[in-house]
Amino acid sequence: MADLSVKIGQLELKNPVMTASGTFGFGEEFSDFFDLSRLGGYIVKGTTLAPRQGNAYPRMAETPAGMLNAVGLQNKGVHYFADEIYPRLKDIDSNLIVNVSGSTIEDYVACTEKVAELDKVSGIELNISCPNVKQGGMAFGTCACSAADVVKAVRKVYPKTLIVKLSPNVTDITEIARAAEAEGADSVSLINTLLGMAIDADKRRPVLSTVTGGLSGPCVKPIALRMVWQTARAVKIPVIGLGGIMNWRDAVEFLLAGATAVQLGTANFIDPEVTIKVIDGLNEYLNKNGYKSVNEIIGALEI
Ligand SMILES: Cc1cc2nc3c(=O)[nH]c(=O)nc-3n(C[C@H](O)[C@H](O)[C@H](O)COP(=O)(O)O)c2cc1C
Repeated sequence: MADLSVKIGQLELKNPVMTASGTFGFGEEFSDFFDLSRLGGYIVKGTTLAPRQGNAYPRMAETPAGMLNAVGLQNKGVHYFADEIYPRLKDIDSNLIVNVSGSTIEDYVACTEKVAELDKVSGIELNISCPNVKQGGMAFGTCACSAADVVKAVRKVYPKTLIVKLSPNVTDITEIARAAEAEGADSVSLINTLLGMAIDADKRRPVLSTVTGGLSGPCVKPIALRMVWQTARAVKIPVIGLGGIMNWRDAVEFLLAGATAVQLGTANFIDPEVTIKVIDGLNEYLNKNGYKSVNEIIGALEI
């Protein structure tokens, strides 16, 4: 068996496979399908300081090779998470990472401070890239200055592993990644969803209540792969790659492009056991090709 372990900031991951925020609930929903402790890490639903209702329905649409969503960070707030959900998750032997969102820098900081009180949370993923909220979210992640401001403020109050999740809805993602790195991020994860739109020809109306939404799934993979490759060459901190990973082969491609770990999102809706299949497939790939450690293939793309 190959050594699958990787390091991200202070995190020791038993393997490089994680679940993407918003697509895996709080993890518990999947515990009937497999043992969550097999995952390298799992990133829970986007959490904000105050509860959020999310956007009006319809907020999901299918596209030929992926999905559009406009959930809008519906959640019950970080205090509910801390009191009701965290006690049920804290003993799972994997890295629990909380995805933190906000509308203002003060929101991000206050939400992070609450998460920092929870011993068994290994790190946070700062979501500066949500396209589905009117205020905040992506607005922070599309400009290097505001990205730097929010990362700097959060870094001051959070000593554990800080991952910054980047938006693909920018002209140069490496600029935002460098800004996050300069302000002390331990890692960047990319990509969040791409802005997209669906129209109902019969009704002559947009399908989503919000008109536009976030596109994810196989259709975004080539873009995500390109952005991960570019970013891994632009920063020294580890990059976590995601966007359209549906199987172990996709995951290997992201690792070759320079990702130290990967996340799976939309794929969980199709096959709840997909992450385990990716871990097993990756292990087989490494064994078959004579690699002793997964680290040997990270960034090993030959050009
Ligand atoms: C229904 C849904 C909800 C999501 N919610 C969040 C969220 O709360 N926070 C976040 O950072 N990303 C969120 N995302 C984005 C995913 O984590 C991921 O970045 C994106 O879907 C691309 O990966 P994929 O193609 O593997 O799904 C959401 C995606 C979907 C489909």
